[in-house]
Amino acid sequence: MSSKSSMSRTSAATPPPVGLAPEPAAASFAERQAAHGPALHAHLRRLYGTHPDHAASVARLDELLAASHAARSAELQALDAQRLQDPDWFLSPRMLAYSAYVDRYGGTLAGVAQRIAHLRELGVTYLHLLPFLRARPGQNDGGFAVESYDEIEPALGTLDDLGSLTRALRAEGISLCSDFVLNHVADTHDWARAARRGDPRYRAYFHVLDSEADVAAYEAGLPQIFPLTAPGNFTYSRELAGWVWTTFYPYQWDLNYANPAVFVDIAAALLRLANRGVEVFRLDSAAFLWKRPGTPCMNQPEAHWILQALRCVVDIAAPGTLLKAEAIVPSRELPPYLGLPDAPGRECHLAYQSSVMTAAWVALAEGSAELLQRVLAETPAVPPHTGWLTYVRCHDDIGWNVLRNALPPQQVPRLAAASRFYAGLAEGSFARGASFQASDANAVHGTNGMAASLLGYDTAHSDAERDAALARLLLLYGVALSVGGIAMVYMGDEFALGNDPTPPALWPPGADGRQLHRPALPESVLAQAADEQSRAGAAWAGLRRLIAARRSVADFAGNVPLRLRASGDARVLAFQRGDVLCLFNFAASDCTLTLPAAGMTDVVSGRRIVGRSLPLPGYGLRWLRGAEHAA
Ligand code: GLC
Repeated sequence: MSSKSSMSRTSAATPPPVGLAPEPAAASFAERQAAHGPALHAHLRRLYGTHPDHAASVARLDELLAASHAARSAELQALDAQRLQDPDWFLSPRMLAYSAYVDRYGGTLAGVAQRIAHLRELGVTYLHLLPFLRARPGQNDGGFAVESYDEIEPALGTLDDLGSLTRALRAEGISLCSDFVLNHVADTHDWARAARRGDPRYRAYFHVLDSEADVAAYEAGLPQIFPLTAPGNFTYSRELAGWVWTTFYPYQWDLNYANPAVFVDIAAALLRLANRGVEVFRLDSAAFLWKRPGTPCMNQPEAHWILQALRCVVDIAAPGTLLKAEAIVPSRELPPYLGLPDAPGRECHLAYQSSVMTAAWVALAEGSAELLQRVLAETPAVPPHTGWLTYVRCHDDIGWNVLRNALPPQQVPRLAAASRFYAGLAEGSFARGASFQASDANAVHGTNGMAASLLGYDTAHSDAERDAALARLLLLYGVALSVGGIAMVYMGDEFALGNDPTPPALWPPGADGRQLHRPALPESVLAQAADEQSRAGAAWAGLRRLIAARRSVADFAGNVPLRLRASGDARVLAFQRGDVLCLFNFAASDCTLTLPAAGMTDVVSGRRIVGRSLPLPGYGLRWLRGAEHAA
């Protein structure tokens, strides 16, 4: 099938919000304190003004900031100074993120250091290592049940290894991003142990409910994160003689941010890690920080104030550090993590763009760009000096629910259909993923699986089918690389690595279905990179070509606005970044488009397009320079 259509301009994304721009760079600690201290104190007053410990905790925090700054190494202070001069440093198209579990990628922190050459070859400038701090023994949600913020998980190495790794990465221009699990701690963390021993000071670090009636009242409004493996949001503790709030697994105890001591201790833990060389913090489960009866206890205004206060903390004591919100929330709730309307740009520097990621998967299942286009049209431009973290896959499931509100109610079944498609249950599906935590066939929860397995590599029996799987992989990565922000490669996708082949019986204790997309990356796969005929080598070459092209396009910087264009073909997404027109065909069928100008140049191949007619193969993507002349 082929269609001929003319491209015209459509709705531009909303212009950047006006109002408070971030303060100009303040070089010395005293200047930074003067610039950000008043905002920090105002946030704390809003959060804790009526708490009896308010004044004492503010004094403790102020001391902590001064001590932390004093303890910061000359090397890190030099980095701070450099970044203050260039607050958009992380929005450059040269930035590329890579996300991996330490054990699956390099075995240990020292083993990760051995793989820096691989990261450099791919063009990585930002390495997100999934939790490596000491976790609860046994079940620990892949390390997300942290027992100590000041120790490394013994099997992964030592604090010295962390120091060596951050320095080795920095020497290669790679920033280390660490998870910072701030919504909860392990039930074996010292604070939880003290609470269990009956210490009232630490009992107040958690939300402990006294009665089943209170539990039921809260539960009525709460979502279920793991409805099958961890139903409910509370866990009864005999030692506490009450129900402790556990949004995730029963051994992950939610911290009580209504207690100012929790905020100060968490800020202190974050600054200690920043001084150990962590340059980016992935603020895990950021949406859940504040509880309010009668609400889903997500995205509450106070959660934003806490994040804004943390931002002030790093701006004062470790200003080269970035904060990234992990808030996998409905599209409309997402932009505030980059700053509320009254404080644009004053919250996290980065946030996961989960709506665009999820909508791209829906687009591929439907062979239509309609929903993705709609999500992009409704996404406001980011505030100054902030950006999205764009991605295709990560260590979690693809959570379809983030798009629920982006669809009219009668169309929500489209999400369940996408979920069935990627579980390989729909007619014509090329995918081999699995549904996650879905309690019935119509539930719209999540999908597990490595990108390659979801994109048809496992079901491909001919060269044409293998080519199609590769084209799909490059299509989705093409969107992530050009839609704006730091694009992230999930470990293994650069080699089209498939699902973890380990039988479930041999998975780590308590692992859930997400283990499917947490395979190891052995040397043998890396060794295939040079062979373009191999599955791994073809993906490696294709992805590196796109990454190299992206680096060469200044208009792919995170602060260049995105303008949607009408492709005239429902299968094709079209948007413009500066002078570059980006086109993506989400269907298997070829089409022919009419370009807005003659003589455009393909950014990837360097070839000039003759005339205005562009054939775009099924799953094809094009980045074309020369769109400005046509604008
Ligand atoms: C985040 C992590 C996820 C973890 C959860 C609880 O969503 O990405 O892997 O299970 O937080 O810590």
